[in-house]
Amino acid sequence: MHSYRVSGQDDPVSKENLMPMVAHIQQLTDVKPLLGIICGSGLGGLAELVDNPTFISYKDIPGFPVSTAPGHKGRLVFGLLDGYPVVLMQGRLHSYEGIPLWQVTLPVRVMKLLGINTIIVTNAVGGINQSLQVGDIMLVRDHLNLFALGGDSPLRGPNDEAFGPRFFSVNTLYGEKLREIAKETGKELGLQHRVKEGILTITGGPNFESIAELRLFKMAGADAVGMSNIPECLVAHHCGIQVLSFSLITNMCSVDYGCELQEPNAEEVLEVGERCTEDLCNFVKSIVKKIQNLNM
Ligand code: HPA
Repeated sequence: MHSYRVSGQDDPVSKENLMPMVAHIQQLTDVKPLLGIICGSGLGGLAELVDNPTFISYKDIPGFPVSTAPGHKGRLVFGLLDGYPVVLMQGRLHSYEGIPLWQVTLPVRVMKLLGINTIIVTNAVGGINQSLQVGDIMLVRDHLNLFALGGDSPLRGPNDEAFGPRFFSVNTLYGEKLREIAKETGKELGLQHRVKEGILTITGGPNFESIAELRLFKMAGADAVGMSNIPECLVAHHCGIQVLSFSLITNMCSVDYGCELQEPNAEEVLEVGERCTEDLCNFVKSIVKKIQNLNM
């Protein structure tokens, strides 16, 4: 496979080139998913919500990218969530694994071709806004996409109009209706003090951010920072999938010199993810129930 895409060359993520992957998957499951869920670090426990699951490892789908990140199983899970046909990505792909963004987001297009119209994208993040706390769920209401500002986008390269137009707006990417449903769900579950809303930014990782970088993000209005999520949301929006994105605050970022020893670490991220799994599972399940009832 190409490591980059150039206009005029065969596009590896055109509809035509992805259809064999879709056909391969459809031979292995009868589930016709309407909703996709991307599980972030430590959030793979969401897969346990799926009834009668069919597991398909990424490595068993010819041409599908394979994830290597800790806490990411690397498989699709098909089944019913509260009676609603879903596909989960138990484990996502990251730029820091050396995977180009078009490949990181390839599964979103595959899920689109499998029939999803809505996606829930989750990840683990560090909190920058000091009103956030570890364990909070931050609904993404907008993003500060440093990748795109630096010239990298999963949609860079040839554009297959079968998915969406060359140029498109992101003003309504994080749709208000789904965010309202999520907030209402938070209240019903007694999680209203932990369900917040904010602006997500992204770095390439794999290192956590320097204090100077965090200060820049804070000044620019970002509430939290992660190493994923935004590319998948962009590609989903481009091809007309409704997006709900939320981030679990797994650590607070210290933006003050003198606090250098309060360092974030991967173990803490996974541990907080696991500790919050039950609440997150209930949260997602209740949201899916509402989406299903509204026939969105
Ligand atoms: N920074 C970037 N990504 C993260 C963090 C962080 O502090 N925590 C979890 N993912």
